[in-house]
Amino acid sequence: MTAVNEIPMKQMGLEKDGRLPVVAIDKVYKSFGEHKILNGITLNVSRGETLAVLGRSGTGKSVLLRLIIGLDHPDEGSIRIDGQDIAALSLDQLGDTRKKMGFLFQHAALYDSLTVAENVAFPLRHHRKGMSRSERCDRVQQLLAEVGLQDASEKMPSDISGGMQKRVGLARALALDPEILLLDEPTAGLDPISSREIDDLTLKLQREHQIASIVVTHDLFSARSIANRLALLDQGNVLIEGTFEDLRQSDIGFVKEFLKQS
Ligand SMILES: Nc1ncnc2c1ncn2[C@@H]1O[C@H](COP(=O)(O)OP(=O)(O)O)[C@@H](O)[C@H]1O
Ligand SMILES: [Mg+2]
Repeated sequence: MTAVNEIPMKQMGLEKDGRLPVVAIDKVYKSFGEHKILNGITLNVSRGETLAVLGRSGTGKSVLLRLIIGLDHPDEGSIRIDGQDIAALSLDQLGDTRKKMGFLFQHAALYDSLTVAENVAFPLRHHRKGMSRSERCDRVQQLLAEVGLQDASEKMPSDISGGMQKRVGLARALALDPEILLLDEPTAGLDPISSREIDDLTLKLQREHQIASIVVTHDLFSARSIANRLALLDQGNVLIEGTFEDLRQSDIGFVKEFLKQS
């Protein structure tokens, strides 16, 4: 495997200040059969930064997240996590890399038959085998407190609201203290108040943990309040990338259209 210091600087996509991006997506292509989904996507995310990925339904946002997690592979191009091309990793190494990532899938995907506390404990049981039961309980309580759900630990997912379920999903995503947080439509299907709660929580996590986050969202209000940078995907490419203000000032028809309808 190539050591990080053997990779040419340009290829690593170093940030302007010389930092290595935590997630570096370089000219990634992905098709399913004849259906071209991603067409040479390049995006970087650094520590403490939140990138919002926007785009119409079906543009490949969730596919992109799956590639970053390594659940699927690009046809061409590379995805580097902390400088390491994930396609070059063995299964064991990929497992270790995945532990650096917390993810919240599009539908919170909690285990229905487990309590809130058991859901949050799940990654700890599987990946922190050395942890004692009482250490695990303490950690779960700490995580639930972080998302404001310390009183809901014994509830079942079906007994709590959609917003609370997302917060449980976030607590679970944070269980292994990730460097990278991937959130797929965290506010979809939530009322405005619950959506803003999730936004505030994401901002708090960003400030307190210096996580590199990628948030896929339809919710422009949310993207604007939580992201340092926004990238709008169209036809498998990054049509525009910048601050919300950069997007607002764009003359590109699709960008104007997208900002209007959201
Ligand atoms: N495993 C797969 N096999 C075939 N087609 C897929 C697969 N996963 C996603 N797609 C297709 O890729 C396109 C992008 O999907 P997705 O990333 O879920 O879009 P979105 O931007 O809404 O998250 C869709 O047309 C979807 O049907
Ligand atoms: Mg999706």
